[in-house]
Amino acid sequence: MNPLKRLGLRRTPVTSLLAAAVLVATGTAAAVPDTTPRASTLGAQAAQSGRYFGTAVAAGKLGDGTYTGILGREFNSVTPENEMKWDATEPSRGSFNFGPADQIVNGATARGQRVRGHTLVWHSQLPGWVSSIRDANTLRGVMNHHITTVMNRYKGRIHSWDVVNEAFADGPSGQLRSSVFRDVLGDGFIEQAFRTARSTDPAAKLCYNDYNIENWNDAKTQGAYRMVRDFKARGVPIDCVGLQAHFGAGGPPASFQTTLSNFAALGVDVQITELDIAQASPTAYANTVRACMNVARCTGITVWGIRDSDSWRSGENPLLFDRNGNKKPAYNAVLTALGGTPAATRRAP
Ligand code: XIL
Repeated sequence: MNPLKRLGLRRTPVTSLLAAAVLVATGTAAAVPDTTPRASTLGAQAAQSGRYFGTAVAAGKLGDGTYTGILGREFNSVTPENEMKWDATEPSRGSFNFGPADQIVNGATARGQRVRGHTLVWHSQLPGWVSSIRDANTLRGVMNHHITTVMNRYKGRIHSWDVVNEAFADGPSGQLRSSVFRDVLGDGFIEQAFRTARSTDPAAKLCYNDYNIENWNDAKTQGAYRMVRDFKARGVPIDCVGLQAHFGAGGPPASFQTTLSNFAALGVDVQITELDIAQASPTAYANTVRACMNVARCTGITVWGIRDSDSWRSGENPLLFDRNGNKKPAYNAVLTALGGTPAATRRAP
């Protein structure tokens, strides 16, 4: 990390400024105590290592002051939780609705946050008019039109797109799951979607996103890995793999970091895209964040909501803020794992 860059941070103690000046002047860190300035929010701390720290956002909650207060303070990336899905953006053929997604994107831009696009092709939250198509030419045309229309709407404003979501089957097969896309277009629908996405917005990173691909030895992980390897070998455009990371109380599997580095070694970025952990154990959160920090191409982490009451798994209290918007113990564990020091334990300058 460039010490000059660190100097730009708020709450920089004078001793740190001096230490950094010594570093710059001498070009060596030898004998200089670790007085690295620590950021006090998740986004700022993640940014110190060039990463983002994001959250899922629901347009319907943007009127809640507690919610937007935390959103603006802590995060530097947002993912629309439902507003960019097919049922929201194209509920009937050729008729697009971008109101709620626009609200999220415009709000994020105003707050200086980056946006992940989620998601273009997914078997779920898919309107019935799509899932009932049986003709391959029709479905291919409909899929390509959906991808180009939604991507063009937000062109230049999305850092990463989940082009295809959850295409692999659970269980031991390692194959694609049955869906209208696989069943009517064949396995090639994923390649088709990525090629269309690349030609629509060449600047956006194109991700394949899935759950239960965190444990390296799982057949589903292996299936996704083989697909990415094949895409890279054949020049099919793909830039990133999103690992959703919806974890049980134990947190990530022991092999999680191995999985991240193995995908990264194929020449793609990896991102943790929908993190939540039943009961939010600080250790489980810290282990997850550390795995990402240990992999250079793990470029960012998104938690799937702000307060426990905002979560799709609210009964499991899986997030970093309680329903009153207070930081939970897992919050400090995450900040620490990102390289920061929680305010309560900050050293005096
Ligand atoms: C979830 C949302 O959080 C819920 O509000 C919605 O009812 C269902 O979808 N994988 C994904 C996300 O890729 O889009 C899902 O989000 C959670 C699982």
